[in-house]
Order: sequence, then structure tokens, then C-alpha cells
Amino acid sequence: MTDRGITVFGATGYTGRLVVKELVARGARPLLAGRNPQKLASLAREHGGLATFVADVAQQESLAAMAEKSRVIVNCVGPFVDLGQPVVEAAVGAGAHYLDTTGEQPFIRAVQGLDTKAREARVAVVPAHAFEIALADCGAAILARGYSDIASLDVIYATRFHASQGTKRTVLRMLGAEGFGYEEGRLVSQPPARYRRSVELPEGWGAMEALSFPSAEILTIPRHVRTRAVRVYLALPGMAARGIAWSMPLVRVLAKTPLVRVAERALGTDTSGPEPGVRAQDRFLILLEIRGVRRGQALREALAISGRDPYGITAAVAAQGALRMLADDYDRRGVLAPAQAFEPEAVLSDAKAFDVAWKKLA
Ligand SMILES: NC(=O)c1ccc[n+]([C@@H]2O[C@H](COP(=O)([O-])OP(=O)(O)OC[C@H]3O[C@@H](n4cnc5c(N)ncnc54)[C@H](OP(=O)(O)O)[C@@H]3O)[C@@H](O)[C@H]2O)c1
Repeated sequence: MTDRGITVFGATGYTGRLVVKELVARGARPLLAGRNPQKLASLAREHGGLATFVADVAQQESLAAMAEKSRVIVNCVGPFVDLGQPVVEAAVGAGAHYLDTTGEQPFIRAVQGLDTKAREARVAVVPAHAFEIALADCGAAILARGYSDIASLDVIYATRFHASQGTKRTVLRMLGAEGFGYEEGRLVSQPPARYRRSVELPEGWGAMEALSFPSAEILTIPRHVRTRAVRVYLALPGMAARGIAWSMPLVRVLAKTPLVRVAERALGTDTSGPEPGVRAQDRFLILLEIRGVRRGQALREALAISGRDPYGITAAVAAQGALRMLADDYDRRGVLAPAQAFEPEAVLSDAKAFDVAWKKLA
């Protein structure tokens, strides 16, 4: 067991390469795993000669062999809804901890069904330990402390963002998928743009319109915060929000036709993404709002998390999470939300190189 270390699966992808870089910068020597031996060898050389392992999701035995070599698997192979489940099963089967960069609701829902298996295997399985989900999940844990009765928790994302090809493929894949909301203490089927609200955002973002979407905090936050509702919104300028709300039903119909395959082919298979200088300028604000009772008093409070470079943040929190899981005293088990797997403030601090800061608003 002792010579089993961290494996980055999908190491040659856009996010995988960033995770490898972050791990190496922290002194780790991860095993680079992926389906393309030439790309793996070239990446290994860039980092002064790391070990490589060829594994493909289509070949379960290659995943099992990869997992046998791993104490922690960081999975960056998406779309996870198509490619993720066999990797989780291989990790649990071999007694390896698992962490990934997904933000996809249907995949996380399926993985949460493996909780008992993960506990029996004495491993932690942490989907969505990335910019989207981990920061808001940890912010929700911080904001909800001390509340005894929570009526609702809203998460509002405002972001100026350049997406990788992999993210575009995943978003396209998710457009036609069934989405869930969390209302009255249970999951309910809920399409994108089901709710719309106006919001005044701090830190210069100003007045915007926000549209709800089936983001995965809807699945993670209720695992550790006793709230009756979770709604996640994307804040947009008014015209854009109205246009999207109007066209969404048609987009959802089109997303279930062969047109999606045409769009997927147009995106190709390349693993490029925003250049470092571009992604470093991509800023975001996540506003969390809570309504509930604390020490007998009905309250509304808010927490703002801000920063820049969502891909840089994803790589930093995934790398640091994997290093914590590798430690001998890491003892959390089962399928966990980011805020259950690690201390929430520690996760947010892992991204401080990307100016991530959080504060309660008056
Ligand atoms: N939640 C967040 O905030 C967040 C942040 C970043 C990324 N993500 C998600 O993470 C995923 C990866 O994004 P990305 O931009 O890194 O995508 P990408 O550049 O396309 O990388 C995907 C990786 O998957 C590998 N792959 C594809 N099919 C495979 C198979 N059958 N077997 C083994 N490996 C396979 C590719 O291998 P090759 O290199 O050989 O092509 C590539 O390394 C996406 O789903 C994205 O949405 C989420």
C-alpha cells in the first residue's frame, strides 16, 4: 500500500495538465494516466520524467490495473456522465480514494448511490472538487453554521469566463439531460431557467437578472446543511437572461435531436483551452444567501466568494485535496461533498493564489 501514490487520470487533458503542474509544484510525483501513450510520454518529459500508465475508460481491466497502482485517483476525464462511473467503481474496487472535477448533476447523483460500497471499502469518494461546486459547497457550510432551521439557500454565480473545449463538450452533453432542483426538503425534476430573480451583486458586478439552473450544489449542499431548499442561479445582464429564458424550451428540444452530435463533431476532440494570460483575467463572484433561524432569531445573511481563474482554482483545490487524502491520518469515508471531505475554510484557502477571498455581507 505504501508505494501507491496519486494518479491523475486524464492527465493529458486541459484540466489534467494543470492538476499535474500543481501537484509537481507541491513536491508530488503523480502517476500520469490516460489513453494516449505518446501524449503521456511527452507530458512526463515536461516534468522531468514522471511515471505513466495507459488506461482507457472503454477497457475496464485497464482501469482496475490503474486503480491497483493508486492510493488516490484524481479523475479529469469528462463528460463524466458518459465516462466517469467505471473509474469510480475501479477506485472503490481497489481501495483507492477518488476525487474529480465534474460539475454534472446526473453523474454525481449516480455516484452518491455508491456511498455504502465506498464506506465498506474504507475510501472517500469526492466528486466535484473543482471551481464549480467545491467553492459554493464550502461557502454554504460556512454560512449555515449556527442555524437551526433553514428555509432556503440560494447560490448565485456571476462570471466572465473562457471555457476549455472539454467544458464546452460537457455543457453540450448536459443540455438535454434531466435536471433536479431541491425544494421542500426533496429532489424534484426541474428544467433550467425554472426560476428567475433580480439581484444586486456586490464588488462592482451591479444589478443583474439571475436564471436558475440544475447545478450540482443542489445535490451536495443538502448532504451537510439541513435546508428546505437550494436554488442555484447564473447572473446575466437583463437582455441575455430574458433571451435565454425565452429560448430554453426550444434549446432543450433541440438538445435531444441528432443536431447535438453535429455540434459535438464541430467541437472535435482537442484538449485546448484558454491561454494562461486569458484565464488569469477570468473573474467571478459567488453570492450565497441564507434565510433561516439562528439563536431563535429569523435572519437573512449573505456570503460573497470572489476570485479569478476558475481553471487555476480547479487545479489547485483538486491537487491539494488529493494530497490531504494521501496523508496517513486522512480518515473520512463514503461519498462526500467537498465540505464533508475537507475543512471548508481550508478548501477556499487552497485557492488563495487566485485571489480567492470570502466575506459575510452586512
Ligand atoms: N467543475 C468545474 O469547475 C470544472 C473545471 C474544469 C473542468 N471541469 C470538467 O472536467 C472535464 C475535463 O475538462 P477538460 O477541459 O480538461 O477536458 P479535455 O481537455 O477534453 O480533457 C479530457 C481528457 O479526457 C481524456 N479522455 C477522453 N476519453 C477518454 C477515454 N475513453 N479514456 C481515457 N481518457 C479519456 C482525454 O484524453 P486525450 O488527452 O487522450 O484526448 C483528455 O485527457 C470536463 O467534463 C469539464 O467540464 C469542470
